[in-house]
Amino acid sequence: MNEHANPQNLSARADELEEKMMHELGEHIATKSVLFRMADGKIEMESGPALRAANPDKYFLMGADPRLPAMPKKPTLIDFFKNRFASLNHLLQSATHALKGGHSEKVVLACLLHDIGVASFIRCDHGYWGAQMIEPYVDEEVSWAVRAHQALRFFPDRSVGYEYPQMYIDNFGADYKPEPYIVRDYERAKNHKYYMTSRLICVNDIYSFDPNAKVDLDDFVDIVGRNFKQPKEGLGFDNTPSSHMWRTLMWPTRFL
Ligand SMILES: [Fe+2]
Ligand SMILES: [Fe+2]
Repeated sequence: MNEHANPQNLSARADELEEKMMHELGEHIATKSVLFRMADGKIEMESGPALRAANPDKYFLMGADPRLPAMPKKPTLIDFFKNRFASLNHLLQSATHALKGGHSEKVVLACLLHDIGVASFIRCDHGYWGAQMIEPYVDEEVSWAVRAHQALRFFPDRSVGYEYPQMYIDNFGADYKPEPYIVRDYERAKNHKYYMTSRLICVNDIYSFDPNAKVDLDDFVDIVGRNFKQPKEGLGFDNTPSSHMWRTLMWPTRFL
């Protein structure tokens, strides 16, 4: 019988896996966020006292999660690229396209960072999340462009050959209409001085899904060095409005 037909089996295997992962943590208990559980249709929080009662000899995890790649004491953006960002290829391909197209370093950096919201945190409103993460460290042109790409990609600009992506019709349906706040942000962005920087993210974005393209993070280390202010304390240990976001990425399962 197909095991997927039996939800009992699946949930037993999930429990087993959870148990195994718990053991990999040694003497620590890792919990899951409410947001994580919502994906399974549950609005609930793990009970601290119940977990401690079930694991009387363990403390809650209050630092690095041993299941994840270790981060250095003073992490840089490149360390997050290597150890915390998924879908690196998409970002690197997009930035490579911009580089080959002869665009400015700000445009290349914007392309390199445009989807870090989705590559690290969450899909919903990823342009806004990504912009907030980088805002204290980059020129405002770069963070503005990352934020606005969220809205601009839903609207064509024939002056640069950007059409509404066929992929969105395939993914969201032909009758999908962006929400009013997206339309509003697009209207605001249209006449902004950095409009074209953000538009160039969209232009370099749609051509960036070739699984065979050869890309290398090393090609961008110098551009990052020149255009992303690395805090001397390490990214996340400085005191900016987004430091906590980087710390959360570093220690996503910390109890508090
Ligand atoms: Fe995006
Ligand atoms: Fe993208």
